[in-house]
Amino acid sequence: MDSRKTLIANLPKAELHMHIEGSLEPELMFSLAQRNGVELPYASVEEIRQAYRFDCLQDFLDVYYQGMSVLQTERDFFDLTWAYLEHCRTDNVTHVEIFFDPQGHTDRGIPFATAFEGIASALEKGEAELGISSRIIMCFLRHLDEESAFETLRQAEPFLDRIAGVGLDSSEKGHPPTKFQRVFERARELGLKIVAHAGEEGPPGYVWEALDALGVHRIDHGNRALEDEALVARIVAEQIPLTVCPQSNLRLAVVKDMADHPIRKMLALGIKATVNSDDPAYFGGYVNDNFNALVDALDLPEDEIITLVRNSFEAAFLPEEVKQQHLARLEAAVEQHATH
Ligand code: ADE
Ligand code: ZN
Repeated sequence: MDSRKTLIANLPKAELHMHIEGSLEPELMFSLAQRNGVELPYASVEEIRQAYRFDCLQDFLDVYYQGMSVLQTERDFFDLTWAYLEHCRTDNVTHVEIFFDPQGHTDRGIPFATAFEGIASALEKGEAELGISSRIIMCFLRHLDEESAFETLRQAEPFLDRIAGVGLDSSEKGHPPTKFQRVFERARELGLKIVAHAGEEGPPGYVWEALDALGVHRIDHGNRALEDEALVARIVAEQIPLTVCPQSNLRLAVVKDMADHPIRKMLALGIKATVNSDDPAYFGGYVNDNFNALVDALDLPEDEIITLVRNSFEAAFLPEEVKQQHLARLEAAVEQHATH
C-alpha cells in the first residue's frame, strides 16, 4: 500500500464537520424504518444507494431530510451516533465535533431532548469506552426563518452546558448569513462557539457575512472564498479554519473532478484547512476515505497530510491543554512513521 495511506490510517485525527444525520447508512435506515414502522419510498438497501446521485446541494438535502424520518426514539439517535463512533475507531479519529439539526426532528414532532440525549449519551460512552473526545454543535436550518432558529435556541437552553456551539446549514443559495444575525448574536452572548456553512454553493459575499455578521470562529466548506483575494487575505490573517469536505464537494458538484479540488491551493495560500466527511453515508466515505481520495487525485504529499491533521486539532473547540495532549499524540505517531 502507498505509505501515505498507511500514514493516514495511523495518525490520530479530529473530525470537525460531520452531520450526525448524514452518517445514517442505508442498512441502519432500513432497520430503523422496520423497527419504527416508518414507510420509506425504497424497497431495499440497494435502492436507497441508487437514490444517492445528486446534481447539487438541494438534490442531496431532499434525500437527507427524508432519511431522517426513521429517527424517532432516543435509542435510534444513540444507535446512529454509536455507529459513527465505531467508524471513528476504525479510522483512528480521536476527537469529533458533530453537527445535529434539531429542527429536522422537532418539525416532525420529535422533542429536542429525545434527539439530544440519544446523541449525547452515545458520545459520553464513546469517551469512556473508546477514548474519543467530542463536542456537539447544533445547526440552524437556513431555509427556515430566524424565529424558528430562536425557538430552537430556547429549546436548547436546558442543555447548553453540553452544547459547544451553533452552526448554520441546509440550502445556502438565497439564504445569506445576515438572515440569522440576531440569533447568532444571542448565541454569542450565551458563550457558544460560532460556525456557519458558507461558500459551498453560495458566493464569497456569504463568507464575508459569516465573518462580519455572525462572527464565526470557523467556516464550514469555504471553497468559494478562493474567488476573492481580499477575503483570502482576511482568512489567512485571522487564521480562520476551513472545514473542507472533498468527497462531499465532488458528489454535490462543488468541484467537477477531484483533481480540481482546491485543498492544496488553500494550504499553499496559508489557509488553515482541515479534511472532513460532511455526510459520510451519502458521499462515499469517512475521514480516511477523504484523505485517500486526495492522495489518489492530487498526489497529496506526506507533509501536507500531517499539516491537515495538525490543523484539525488546532482548529478544535477544546481547552488548550487538551488540544496539546492530542497534538503530542499526533507528533508521536508522526515520529514513529518517520522511523519505520
Ligand atoms: N446539511 C448536511 N450536509 C450539508 C451540506 N453539505 N451543506 C449544507 N447543509 C448540509
Ligand atoms: Zn456540512
